[in-house]
Amino acid sequence: MFLSVAVFLGFSLTSAAGPAEPVAGPSYVAAVYEHHSTLSPQPRVPLSRPAALRHMQANLDVYEEQAARAARQGAQILVFPEDGLQGFNFSRTSISGYLETIPDPQQDNWNPCTEPGRHNNTEVLQRLSCVARRNNLYLVANMADLQPCPLQSSPSSPCPPDGRWQFNTNVAFRSDGQLVARYHKHNLYFEKAFDTPPQPEIITFETPFAGKFGLITCFDILFHEPTVVLVERGVRQLINPTAWMNQLPLLDSIQSQQAFSLGANVTLLTANIRSDHLIMTGSGIYTPFSATYHHARKGDPEEGRLLVARVPVLDPLHVGHSVTSGEGVVRAASTLSSATDSGYCHQESCVDSSHPETTSAGTFISSMMYDPFTFILLNKTEGRLDVCDGTFCCHLQYWQLPQNDSKELYALGAFAGTHTVNGRYALQVCALVRCEGLEASSCGQEVEEAETKMDFQLEGKFGTRYVYPSVLASHLVLEHPEHLEKTSEGRVTMKHSNMTGGLVTACLYGRMYHLDNE
Ligand SMILES: *[C@@H]1O[C@H](CO)[C@@H](O)[C@H](O)[C@H]1NC(C)=O
Ligand SMILES: *[C@@H]1O[C@H](CO)[C@@H](O)[C@H](O)[C@H]1NC(C)=O
Ligand SMILES: *[C@@H]1O[C@H](CO)[C@@H](O)[C@H](O)[C@H]1NC(C)=O
Ligand SMILES: *[C@@H]1O[C@H](CO)[C@@H](O)[C@H](O)[C@H]1NC(C)=O
Ligand SMILES: *[C@@H]1O[C@H](CO)[C@@H](O)[C@H](O)[C@H]1NC(C)=O
Ligand SMILES: *[C@@H]1O[C@H](CO)[C@@H](O)[C@H](O)[C@H]1NC(C)=O
Repeated sequence: MFLSVAVFLGFSLTSAAGPAEPVAGPSYVAAVYEHHSTLSPQPRVPLSRPAALRHMQANLDVYEEQAARAARQGAQILVFPEDGLQGFNFSRTSISGYLETIPDPQQDNWNPCTEPGRHNNTEVLQRLSCVARRNNLYLVANMADLQPCPLQSSPSSPCPPDGRWQFNTNVAFRSDGQLVARYHKHNLYFEKAFDTPPQPEIITFETPFAGKFGLITCFDILFHEPTVVLVERGVRQLINPTAWMNQLPLLDSIQSQQAFSLGANVTLLTANIRSDHLIMTGSGIYTPFSATYHHARKGDPEEGRLLVARVPVLDPLHVGHSVTSGEGVVRAASTLSSATDSGYCHQESCVDSSHPETTSAGTFISSMMYDPFTFILLNKTEGRLDVCDGTFCCHLQYWQLPQNDSKELYALGAFAGTHTVNGRYALQVCALVRCEGLEASSCGQEVEEAETKMDFQLEGKFGTRYVYPSVLASHLVLEHPEHLEKTSEGRVTMKHSNMTGGLVTACLYGRMYHLDNE
C-alpha cells in the first residue's frame, strides 16, 4: 500500500507516491525495505561461524534481490531493518558466530568488496559492500559488532569482564562499496547480547546527492541522545533501521515515525522487521511534507515490502542556502513553527489561563500504555473540553461528522509524568482516542478501527519544546495534520478536518528529556 499525504504549512503539494513524481528543488530517491527475516529456530544455542553465516546468507540473498529492485527504480539510498540479518533473543555467548569486528571508518578507509583480504572474518561486511557497489547505491544495514577491549580500561569506559564489547550496529556503505559510517545503538531494548556503548555516538555520513544523513536505531528515536543531539546539530535527514513492536494507541510504528518527522521537521527513513508473532511491521519514508509508508494488517501475508520515493533534500548546506543555513539549523532545532523558545517553562506558568473554566468534573483515570491518564469523555457531537493531569492541561474543540448509528466512544486524555515500564522516559501527552468499547474503563486500550470522523483542534501547553504530533485513522492510515502551530510559551495547536477515515488517535506527544534521569 502506497499512500501519500498532502501539504503542510503552505508547502507546495508533493506526492510521494512514486519515485517518478517531481519535487520542487533538489531531490533524491530513497528506499527502505521491510524485511520478513529468516530467524534462527534456537537463538539461545550457540552456532559455529559457518552455521551462523549460512543463516545470515539466507537474509543477505533477500537484501541482494531487493537492492537490485530498488536500483531499477532509481534508488540512491536503501535502508534495511535492525536485526534483519541475525534475528532476536540471543545471549551474549550464543550470538558469537554472528559477530564481525567492524573497523572504524573514521580511522580506516576500507572498501570490503574490493579489499576483502584486509580484515579477517568479515563476510557480511564484504557482501553488503558488494551489494552497494554492484547496485551503485548507498546502503545502510544493521549487524552485530565485536570490539575487543583492554580489561584494564578507564572507569569512564569499563570493558566488560569477557574483554569485548558487543554492539548492535548500523553500517553505511557508499555507492562504490566503501564503508563510510558505523553507529553503535545507544538505547538498547531488552538485548542481552549487546552492550551500551560507553559514550553516545553521534554519527553522520555525507552523500553527493543529498548531503548529510544521521544514524539512529529503533528505541533511540524516543531519547535525547543521540537523536535530538543530531537534530540540534542541524542534521535534517535521519536513517532508522528498526525492529519496532507496535503498541497502540500512541506508539504504533508508523504513528511514532510520522510524529518524529513532523515534530523535529526532518526526513526519516525507517525500515522495520515484518513479523506477526513479534508484532513488528510499519516502515516508511517520511518528510515534513509527505509520507510513503507500509503497515501490514491482520491476515496479510508475512512478506517483505520495498518502498521507494523521491523526496526533497533537506540538508541546508547541500541545498546551498549557505546564508540562511544557520537560521535553518536553529529552526530545525526547535520543533514546529516558532524558534523563540527560551527553554522550559515552569510548571506553574504552564497552567492554561485562557480556559479558566477547567474543572475536574467528569474526569476519570484509566491506564494507557501503562501510564495513568486523566480522561474526559466526549459525550456530545460537538463541544469544547479540557482535561488536566496536575497542572498540565489539554484542550479540545471537536465537531463529529453526522454518522449512521455507529456508536463509538471517544475520550480526551492528559498525562504528565514519567513512563517507567519497559523503558524510562518523562512525558507530557495530550491524546484524543477512540475507546475500545462503550465503557469509560476501555479508554486507553488498543483499537485499530473507527468509523467516526471528526474535525478537531487539539491543544496543550507544554513544558518542553519537543512535541511530536500525529493523526492515526482507521486501519492504520496516517493523516497529515492540516495545521500545526507552536507559540514561544510552549502552546502547541494541531488542527485537522476532512478526515478520510474514522479517527483512532490524535496525539501531541511531548518529551520531557530533561526529566528522564530524575
Ligand atoms: C524471543 O523471546 C520471546 C520471549 O521469550 C518470545 O516470545 C519470542 O517468540 C522469541 N522470539 C524469537 C524470534 O525467537
Ligand atoms: C587472517 O587469518 C590468518 C589465519 O589465521 C592470519 O594468518 C592472517 O594474519 C590474518 N589476517 C589479518 C589481516 O588479520
Ligand atoms: C522546517 O524546515 C524548513 C526548511 O526545510 C523551514 O523552511 C521551515 O520553516 C521549518 N519548519 C518549522 C516548523 O520549523
Ligand atoms: C457530559 O459530561 C459532563 C461532565 O463532563 C456532564 O456534566 C454532562 O452532564 C454530560 N452530558 C451528557 C449529555 O451526558
Ligand atoms: C449510511 O447509511 C447509508 C444508507 O444505509 C449508506 O449508503 C452510507 O454509506 C452509510 N454511511 C456511512 C458513513 O456508513
Ligand atoms: C473540507 O471539505 C470542505 C467540503 O468539501 C471544504 O469546503 C473545505 O475547504 C475543506 N477544508 C479543508 C481545510 O481542506
